[in-house]
Amino acid sequence: MTDGGTPLGGSHARPDALAKVTGQTRYVGDIALPGMLHAAVAAADVSSARVGSVDTSRALEIPGVEAVMTAQDVPGANLIGVIFPDQPLLVEDRVRMVGDRFAVVAARSPEAAWRSATAVSAQLEPLAGVHDPVEALKAGADAVHDSGNLVHTFRVERGDIKKAEARATVVVEAEYRIGGQEHAYLEPQACLAIPEAGRVTVLASCQCPFYIQQGVARVLGLPLSAVRVEQAPTGGAFGGKEDYPSEPAACAALLAWRTRRPVRLLYPREHDLQATTKRHAMRVHHRWGADRAGRLRFAEVDVLLDAGAYAGLSTVVAERANASAIGPYDVAAVRVRTRVAYTNNLFGGAFRGFGAPQVTWAHEATMDRLARELGLHPVELRRRNVLGERRRVTSTGQRLPAPVMAKACLEKAVAASSAGQPARALPPGRWLHGTGTALVLYGCNLHHGGQHLDRSSAVVILQADGSAVVRVGLTEMGQGNLVAAQTVAATALGIDPVKVEVWQPDTTTVADSGPTVASRGAHASGLAILEAVRRLRRRLDPVAAELLGCEPSQVMLGGDAARVFGEPEQTIAMEQVVQEMVRRRIETIATGWYRSRRRRFDPATGLGSPYEFYAMACHVARVAVDPDLGLVRVEHVAAAHDVGKVLHRDALEGQIQGGIVQAMGWALTEELKLSRGRLLNPGFTDYLIPTSDDAPAISIALLEDAPGSGPFGSKGIGEPSFIPTAAAIRNAVCDAIGAEVDRLPLTPPVIVEAVAARHPFSFLLP
Ligand code: MTE
Ligand code: MOS
Repeated sequence: MTDGGTPLGGSHARPDALAKVTGQTRYVGDIALPGMLHAAVAAADVSSARVGSVDTSRALEIPGVEAVMTAQDVPGANLIGVIFPDQPLLVEDRVRMVGDRFAVVAARSPEAAWRSATAVSAQLEPLAGVHDPVEALKAGADAVHDSGNLVHTFRVERGDIKKAEARATVVVEAEYRIGGQEHAYLEPQACLAIPEAGRVTVLASCQCPFYIQQGVARVLGLPLSAVRVEQAPTGGAFGGKEDYPSEPAACAALLAWRTRRPVRLLYPREHDLQATTKRHAMRVHHRWGADRAGRLRFAEVDVLLDAGAYAGLSTVVAERANASAIGPYDVAAVRVRTRVAYTNNLFGGAFRGFGAPQVTWAHEATMDRLARELGLHPVELRRRNVLGERRRVTSTGQRLPAPVMAKACLEKAVAASSAGQPARALPPGRWLHGTGTALVLYGCNLHHGGQHLDRSSAVVILQADGSAVVRVGLTEMGQGNLVAAQTVAATALGIDPVKVEVWQPDTTTVADSGPTVASRGAHASGLAILEAVRRLRRRLDPVAAELLGCEPSQVMLGGDAARVFGEPEQTIAMEQVVQEMVRRRIETIATGWYRSRRRRFDPATGLGSPYEFYAMACHVARVAVDPDLGLVRVEHVAAAHDVGKVLHRDALEGQIQGGIVQAMGWALTEELKLSRGRLLNPGFTDYLIPTSDDAPAISIALLEDAPGSGPFGSKGIGEPSFIPTAAAIRNAVCDAIGAEVDRLPLTPPVIVEAVAARHPFSFLLP
C-alpha cells in the first residue's frame, strides 16, 4: 500500500494462495525424512465387544515391520480425549466403536504397515451394543461406559410456559431427525513424529497444535516443554481436525519413541471416513405456540445428540445447540433441554457450527410450519418476531446492544433473492419451484463454558528492512487466518501486506492459544497482533518522532512510513525508523495477548450471556424440485451477513460461498448410512458431496453497521456462513412440494415419499 491507504476491506492476494494453486505447498504427505517409517492402525470392525487378548505375532512377521505396539507398551497414560478421560488411545478391555485401535504398527512402507495391521487379531466377546440414542437412555440399555449412557444435560429455563401457552392460539409440534455429516476435508488426517533424545517434534495437519502437545505429552509421559508441535499446511479441517488429530499424533509419537525413527501416519480415506469424528446426528422435538397476531408466545425444545462411543467435544457441541435452539427470535417463555447420549455409533465431534446448524434447521422448519398454520407468509411471521431495533433480548435473556441486525439481514436477503438469477437453465422436465428463508443468531467465539480457552498469543518482529514477521497461535485451514492476520498486522503497522510474513503456528514460538474454532481465528489472532503492535509502538514512536521532529503522540504509520499527524508531507520510511531502532539496540520484537471478557451466565438455568457478542445472518434459497425423481436443484441463494467490518473481501466472500455449498451437501445428498455402528458408505462414490457443478448462484450482502469486538470491529464468518443454508433449502423444498419434510438429508427417496404421502398444506398462502 504505497499510496498510504490500508489493505483493510480490500482483496490483496492471499499469502498462501500461489503456493497452493501451483502445488508448491508441502503437506505432511509430501514430506519424507531419511529413515522414516510408516504407521498404520489395527482397528476394530465391530462396534461393541469385550476384549480378551490382542495377538500381534502374525503382524510382526510381515516383512518390513519394525514395531507393533499395544496398550501395554504405552509409557505414559493410555488416554486421549480433551475434556473427559473416557477414551483409551489403544484398546484395553472393551471395543466401543468401529475403528477403536487394538495396536499401532510401524513399517518401512505404508503397504507393509497396513498389511501388518490387518494381521493383528483380538479375542473378542461380541456385545449387542446400542445404536440408537433414544434406546441408549432407556433403563436397562447396554452401557457404553460404566458411568451410564447419559453424558450430560443442558437447559434453558426462562419465563412461565403455562401462562404463555394460555395466550397462544396456535401450537405446533414436530419431531425432527437430523443426520450427521462427514467433514470431507481434501487432506485426510496426517502427521509426522520426529524423535530426539528426551523430546519429540510433531508436524500435523490440525486446528490446534496445543491439544496435540497435551495429548502426546500425556501418552509419552513427557513434560509439555519436551513436545513441540508445528501445524503443517492443512488441507481443510471444518472441525474434524480440532481434537481428533491428537489420536493419530499420539500413535505416530509412540512408534517414533519406540523405534527412534521419524514416523509418518497418513489415514487412507476409507479409514478416515469410518474412524474420525462426524457432525452429530440429532433428534429435535419442538412445541411452539403463537398468538393470532403472529407473535411467538412460547417455545419448548428437546434435543438429543448421538455422541457415539466417546464424549470428545460432544458437550461443547451440545452447549452451543442448547444456547442456539430458539434462534434470533423474541420469545418470553422458553424451555430447552439438550441431552448427550453415548451409543456405539460413529464418533460425534466438532463440525462447522458446533450443533447450531441442526437446531437452526429445526427452528426454521417450525417457523414455516407456524406460518402455514397462522396463514401468514413465512417472511411475514419472521418480521413479526425477529430481533431488531425494538426487540433486543435473546432467548437466554441477554440484552444486545443496538443495532441488532437480524431484521436488516432478513430484508436484505429477501430483496436480493427476488432479484437473483439461477446459475444455469434447468433441463426439460416437471419442476416445482419454491423459496425458503432461514435466519441465524450466532454466538461469536467460545461459549461461557469454554471461555478459559478464549485466549491467544502473537509475536511481531520488525525486520531491519521495514518488513515484519508475525507468529500467531491460531491456524490456517483454508479459511483465511493467514490473510486475516496479515491484513491486521499490515494495517496496524502501516506497511504493505506483502511485507508481512505470517508463519505457521508452532508451540515453541507462541503461548497456548486454544483451538482455532468457533470462528474465532481472525478475532483472536487479530486482537493479539494489535496488542503486540501497540507494545512495539511504545518503542518505535519515540524514535520516529525524533527523526520527524514531532511529538511521539503525533506519529502515524501508513504507506510504509512514519508520518506526522496533520502534515502528510512529513514522512520517514519505516525501514529507516527500524534501522534507527536497531542502531540504538532497541528491542524490535513484541508479544501480544488476547483474552475474552468475563461475563455472567448460569449453567443451571442457561440464562445470562453465553456469548460475548453475536453475528446474524439470513439466507434465502430458491430451489427447483422434480417431484417424480425427488431431485433438487438449488438455483439461487441470497446471503446477508452481519459481519461488523470486512477485513479481506475475497476471503470473506469465499467463506460464504463455501459455507453455502457445504451446507447444501448436508441438506440434500450427504447421508451417513450406518449398520450396527459401521459406516456402509466410507468413500466419495457413495457418500455424495457437491461438486462445483452443483453450486448455486449466490448473491452476498455484507452489513457493516454493527461492530463486533474483533479487530477493527469485525465478527467471525467461518460458521455463520454455513448455518442457515440447509434450513433455507428445506423450507424451499417444502414450499415447492407443498408438504412438510422433517428429516435431513432430503435425498430423492425422502422427497418422493413426502410427495406421495402429501397432505397439501391446509390453506393457501397469501
Ligand atoms: N473454511 C475452509 N476453507 N476450511 C476449513 O477447514 N473450517 C470452518 C470455517 N471455514 C474451515 C473453513 C470452521 S469449522 C471454522 S470454526 C472456521 O472456519 C475457523 O476459522 P476462523 O476462526 O478463522 O473463522
Ligand atoms: Mo469449527 S466446528 O468451530 O472448528
